[in-house]
Amino acid sequence: MQKPQKPASPPVPGGPARRVCIITFGCQMNEADSRDIAAAFGRRGYTLTDDLKKADAVVVNTCTVRQRAEDKAISQIGRLRKWKLAKPEGKLFIVGCAAQKLGGKAIKSRFPFVDEVSGAKAIEYFEDALAAQLGPAPEIGYPDSTLFRSPQSAYVTIMRGCSLKCSYCIVPAVRGPAVFLPAAAILKDAAAKIKAGAKEIVLLGQTVNAWRGGKATFSELLKKVLALPGLERLRFMSPHPLYFDDAFTALLAAEPKLSRYLHLPVQSGSDRILKAMRRGYTRGQYLALLERLRAAVPGLAVSTDFIVGYPGETEADFEETLSLLREGRFSMAFCFKYSPRSDNPAMVSHLDEPAMEARLERLLSAVKKNSRVILNERIGKIEEVLFETDTYGRTSGNFGCRVKTGGAPGRMAQVFIEGAERNTLNGKVL
Ligand code: SAH
Ligand code: SF4
Ligand code: F3S
Repeated sequence: MQKPQKPASPPVPGGPARRVCIITFGCQMNEADSRDIAAAFGRRGYTLTDDLKKADAVVVNTCTVRQRAEDKAISQIGRLRKWKLAKPEGKLFIVGCAAQKLGGKAIKSRFPFVDEVSGAKAIEYFEDALAAQLGPAPEIGYPDSTLFRSPQSAYVTIMRGCSLKCSYCIVPAVRGPAVFLPAAAILKDAAAKIKAGAKEIVLLGQTVNAWRGGKATFSELLKKVLALPGLERLRFMSPHPLYFDDAFTALLAAEPKLSRYLHLPVQSGSDRILKAMRRGYTRGQYLALLERLRAAVPGLAVSTDFIVGYPGETEADFEETLSLLREGRFSMAFCFKYSPRSDNPAMVSHLDEPAMEARLERLLSAVKKNSRVILNERIGKIEEVLFETDTYGRTSGNFGCRVKTGGAPGRMAQVFIEGAERNTLNGKVL
């Protein structure tokens, strides 16, 4: 990273300030990549803008986890035709997972106004794509801080790709096998982000707790990050049920800075479907894991992901998902309609769209009821809140929390929870 220095712009001494608009689809991995991309532009003196009309360059960071995600990215590229017509000297970059899946050739032949395509596997080569269009970064760079205010929460990527083979998932194909970043690089990145003002670090990876650094385990990495001065809270996502060990449970029990919240995707409540999905665990093993974690940390909040309509999912399988939702006591669940990611006819759902939609609706309404119960259980308790504004923050269990007074961006405070409204708690700073 470049050392901050002044002044931050313009890119060419005396020239006009340039702006880049970065449109990001998909998960936190893409968000984290977009920040790196922003930093690469920042080194060339660009600032960020949300206003296309003011943009001299546009980056579309695409997702393809479900067909709908890919379609959204494609129609966004189509809409940029107008921008390019109005600004022919502007540069348009297509990056991310759909770019990786579709390939540069296909994208450029469909959208000839695209300047550069750089897939998710090759995000580290984005610098080369940028240099091809804008020339190399100047020797004396511009600071990353021209692009971001100090956020309270910062992502730190600790692994890229995924080496599991869940039957429905395209991520390993577009992001490649798991590669773990070295501990030293992770600690350096986290320390820099804390220095820039982050109070919370979120470690990122598709099977984040599978991380290994030589003999060092994920729990050992957590300990090192937790020791960084200035860190108030540590989260990570998404862990996989297969990679929790006793050392993690012990650390969670002992370390209050470790967030009392896990996003632990389960996908289905039916053993038959879990097996077909190649998730590597049974319903019973998943629930036993939740029990172990909650025995270590009473009140641990857990959210999850579900897929409905997987090929062969019967009404009985689906009802097992509904019952798992109740047994798992999830604070929240993201629910997705199964979307085939290959041309294999065996991987097409047997359900038609109305049947798929009906299952999704039933699950969503159960999630809503369930979440309400879990949220209400927090009333009357004291929660540690990390504030994002003067009146809003998040508890360690990742519930949104509103107060009338006493908050401040970046402040951590104990809050007595008085009530709940919609998805948000409200309370009084103690
Ligand atoms: N690595 C994470 C999940 C990453 S993808 C894990 O294994 O837990 C995020 C979510 O998208 C998944 O949890 C799953 O619920 C959903 N998803 C992935 N592929 C899908 C598909 N083909 N159709 C529908 N949902 C899908
Ligand atoms: Fe996809 Fe997650 Fe399975 Fe990896 S672990 S294949 S990212 S669902
Ligand atoms: Fe994430 Fe979508 Fe890629 S979910 S890893 S951006 S396919």
